[in-house]
Amino acid sequence: SKPGNGSLPLAGKKVVVTAGGTIERIDPVRYITNDSSGKMGAALAQAARDLGADVKLIAGKVQIPLPPGMDIIRIESAEDMYEACLNEWADTDMLIMAAAIADYRPKSSSPRKIKKGGEHMALELVKTVDVLQTLGSQKEHQFLVGFAAETNDIDVYAAEKLQRKNCDLLVANDVTQAGAGFGTDTNIVRLFGREGKIADLPKQSKADTARDILLEASRRMAEGAK
Ligand code: CTP
Ligand code: CA
Repeated sequence: SKPGNGSLPLAGKKVVVTAGGTIERIDPVRYITNDSSGKMGAALAQAARDLGADVKLIAGKVQIPLPPGMDIIRIESAEDMYEACLNEWADTDMLIMAAAIADYRPKSSSPRKIKKGGEHMALELVKTVDVLQTLGSQKEHQFLVGFAAETNDIDVYAAEKLQRKNCDLLVANDVTQAGAGFGTDTNIVRLFGREGKIADLPKQSKADTARDILLEASRRMAEGAK
């Protein structure tokens, strides 16, 4: 690690951050994806790096340049995301799941371009692996940070997701609020711990939001380790 890092809260810690949207292929030229820009994930990875962590950024489809000073692993699908996270898992201190992972993928992906046919066509979808829930169920020393982007009943869904995915911290936002949705440069989030609601962060840049999240997470991780 760099000189002077010893005083930083995440010095010597391995932090894995997932960012961006996944791509679920239909055929070699077509896929299903979502509007995730990767901005929040990139901001979290930068904040972790600036707090002294050894950062691995696992990125899907993003609309921004990825930050320097960290290991970057590029992936496409939810399945790739799971494999990449699992590869890092054993010595991960903190996993931050900011990626927008598709909930469903095409049941089969054609190795050849699908040709045009009749007036109608149906695409059968099957559920993807829930990366956070699967890793949460086999959590040992890892500190898990999950996200929940909601349009309604944010407190109910946040609490349910934190429990179901065995998270230590959950970051929820109401994406219907101006300045909180996909692609924006600001965010408005509410933090939840295992005990319930922790704090409402103000509308601020994604960099400031990321720093506040990382400071709360690192404090809690240090408490847990005592
Ligand atoms: N997540 C994941 N794997 C998936 C889907 C989601 O690891 N296949 C993670 C996300 O990265 C996020 C958290 O789970 O940290 C919550 O994602 P979200 O989409 O809000 O929750 P879901 O469980 O998919 O529920 P729903 O979309 O129905 O609200
Ligand atoms: Ca989902």
